[in-house]
Amino acid sequence: MALKIGIIGNGGIANSHMHGYIQLGNRVEVVACCDINFEKAKQFGERYGIKNVYDNCYDMLKNNELDAVSVCTWNAAHCECTVAALEAGCNVLCEKPMAMNAEEAKKMQAAAEKAGKLLMLGFVRRQGDDARKALELSKNGTLGDVYFVKATYLRRCGFPGGWFGNKALSGGGPLIDLGVHVIDLARYIMGCPNPVSVYGATFNKLGARDDINNGGGWQSETVVDKPVFNVEDLAVAMIRFDNGAVLEVETSFNLNLKNEVGNVEVFGSKAGFNFNDFELYTVKDNELADVKLYGKHNFEFQPDFDREIANFVDSVEGKAECMAPAKDGVALMKILDAVYLSAKTGKSVDID
Ligand SMILES: NC(=O)c1ccc[n+]([C@@H]2O[C@H](COP(=O)([O-])OP(=O)(O)OC[C@H]3O[C@@H](n4cnc5c(N)ncnc54)[C@H](O)[C@@H]3O)[C@@H](O)[C@H]2O)c1
Repeated sequence: MALKIGIIGNGGIANSHMHGYIQLGNRVEVVACCDINFEKAKQFGERYGIKNVYDNCYDMLKNNELDAVSVCTWNAAHCECTVAALEAGCNVLCEKPMAMNAEEAKKMQAAAEKAGKLLMLGFVRRQGDDARKALELSKNGTLGDVYFVKATYLRRCGFPGGWFGNKALSGGGPLIDLGVHVIDLARYIMGCPNPVSVYGATFNKLGARDDINNGGGWQSETVVDKPVFNVEDLAVAMIRFDNGAVLEVETSFNLNLKNEVGNVEVFGSKAGFNFNDFELYTVKDNELADVKLYGKHNFEFQPDFDREIANFVDSVEGKAECMAPAKDGVALMKILDAVYLSAKTGKSVDID
């Protein structure tokens, strides 16, 4: 029997989820979709031949016996829609970031535990060949003791517009949108240590920069005339973990830098490497040595979304272990809350 799927929030990223479900053939059937913007839901339904289309998730959940849903709304609705779906007996794949803050994230985790259903997070960067290889290098001792990691996701002029700058809908700026990807990736290959303290700073010096020609770039599908921008444009932070390791993060929508950077650099006692070069920086015969790894080590957007959806469905069916469980989303949200608090107070923040 095919798993019955519903999709909540029918904007840009919902298409990537849909593509993933389509790859699974008759193992799944996407039977319903909904969006508070009913036009979007109708268009989505027509695009993919989904018959049951709604303007809210409650009617969708009530009128369809769904096994699983994807939550693809803006961040402010993740908690509400996820909890509603779990309470209706569905397994949930919720997009990143898990929620607006750790309090919401814990509520979602508790709802999943109470319902006895799976809550998986859309940490798609975990699905890449680069992440797979990095985890192997970290686990098999090649890197030695990994004690320092740098995670960078800096855009020069890359505010996505739409709701992404509206704190009430997004929860924050580049930290919660982009930083989430590289912080989670870094923590994942470090073996998911627990964060213990954070020192961070945020800025809003350049603002939206939506009047500057940036030659194109990824834009939200939710179009608004003059997007609100009351979030940070740059966030920097140092995160300390319970194993003594430290993660340094830099992430921006807008920053006066020359080259945009998206990278995770990993430094271990035996070797270092970074995701962009995939070389080991080490010592051989008492000389510095760079060892190039020639395998396939890259992140590919849609293929890795397809893997994420496949892992979700496999996990629901008990055929695989979920690669991004709720507890990792909660840990991430605790880190983000602490960065924002530290930025406000100017002091280091302890995480329990
Ligand atoms: N994993 C990734 O690489 C990746 C990439 C892009 C976006 N995302 C995440 O996906 C989510 C959606 O982003 P997007 O770019 O698709 O945004 P979008 O603006 O294109 O679509 C969001 C849709 O959610 C709808 N919505 C809002 N509240 C709702 C509710 N309560 N019920 C039903 N629908 C609701 C909106 O009307 C809108 O159509 C965000 O959380 C974002 O962070 C992840």
